[in-house]
Amino acid sequence: MQAIIVEGGRPLVGGVRVHGAKNSVLPILAAAILAPGQSVIHNCPPLSDVAASLDILRHLGCRAEQHGTDLTVDATALTGSSVPDALMREMRSSVIFLGAILGRTGEAELTFPGGCELGPRPIDLHLRAIRELGAEVKEEGGRLHCRGKLTGKEIVFTRPSVGATENAMLCAVTAEGTTTLHNAAREPEIVDLQGFLRAMGAEVQGAGSSTILIQGGRPLHGGEYTVLGDRIVACTYLAAAAAAGGAVTVTGAQPGHFSTVTAVLAEAGCTVRTGPDWVELVSREGLKGVRPIHTAPYPGFPTDAQPPVLAALARGRGTTLFVEHIFENRYRHAQELCRMGADIKVEGRVAVVSGVPSLHGAAVEAADLRGGAALLVAALGAEGESRITGLRHLDRGYANLEDSLSALGGRVRRVELEPSAEHRTVF
Ligand code: UD1
Repeated sequence: MQAIIVEGGRPLVGGVRVHGAKNSVLPILAAAILAPGQSVIHNCPPLSDVAASLDILRHLGCRAEQHGTDLTVDATALTGSSVPDALMREMRSSVIFLGAILGRTGEAELTFPGGCELGPRPIDLHLRAIRELGAEVKEEGGRLHCRGKLTGKEIVFTRPSVGATENAMLCAVTAEGTTTLHNAAREPEIVDLQGFLRAMGAEVQGAGSSTILIQGGRPLHGGEYTVLGDRIVACTYLAAAAAAGGAVTVTGAQPGHFSTVTAVLAEAGCTVRTGPDWVELVSREGLKGVRPIHTAPYPGFPTDAQPPVLAALARGRGTTLFVEHIFENRYRHAQELCRMGADIKVEGRVAVVSGVPSLHGAAVEAADLRGGAALLVAALGAEGESRITGLRHLDRGYANLEDSLSALGGRVRRVELEPSAEHRTVF
């Protein structure tokens, strides 16, 4: 087992470039199977979730290779339409392959994704959209069987869902006729999916607004596309700089995509300046509590940025109230932060974070991806040494994390734990 060891209390200074957005790469990789031919996708980070997607593509008969940050997928020889349970379990968001497989082959079979670390993850909106487009969907023994000829339709989502919007787009580009998605999710990663689908020859417009129009049935071919920078990774580095103190410039992501987060960090006492693809954050005075933070679908405060920002505000003056509206079980980092001396009370969807003058290092374990990022943020601002385990979660969404933080002056290193050290909880 591996751990990240952090010697906290050192300011972070310098520049860091964020990698491509995980949440863009995954649906774009699914889209690549929609047509025969080769697609090239640039700016893809080496993440375990990306590797899991490539395994699914290979299982389906595609050629899929990663050279640095370029991915090449050739879906000409696609043979399969079913994804085995073991591959589905690797990554909860593999349900995104449902729409693409169905769109390409007219049928799809995969495991019903269960809950995940963040609580139940229903897919009723995905299935309703696919049914409305004409597919027959059967659920048998935990497997989903979908088949049918798809026809364009007006679909009204009862709530904006990123995955359901993407799945509906993936099916609809292959359906005969026009599909209109109402109350669609508006995340930048959906605009990225639209960009790649257009590069494949699809006619899609409106992504980024709540109405997406798809003219289905256009001939599709492989596409070439560069994925946008990861706004949540950018927020994580900014939260780390806010927590540890210092002056950090984050490049490679568009500040307009996470302005709700930079506004909070500015309100907490940081000086924030932005340009077209950079954000500079200076944190010198310590942080103070801010007005209540409600997570919301884009363009609201992103649920994925809640854990690292909460961790930063755990040390400082004043109290901040967080209200989590997207996922039920998204405060598992709070109890670990309390082991570092934080004062956080969680009740249901609400967390009350009372800033403390200092945190201390501790042995803590990540229970989910962004929760792991929260522990790292807190450890960078804490006094003494922390040991973070549960790295399989962090590796799903962050590449080169230790190197990037070390380059900023953080003392962060990954170590292999002796089996006997795995259960030791004190240093
Ligand atoms: C995506 C992101 C994830 C982010 C989340 C919210 C990817 C790969 N993951 O996840 O990082 O945290 O958006 O921004 O892009 N819901 C239903 N029924 C459904 C689908 C969703 O009730 O069929 C609910 C969910 O339980 C949740 C809310 O809708 O409460 C939003 O979920 P959704 O936008 O679908 O998130 P994901 O696409 O799973």
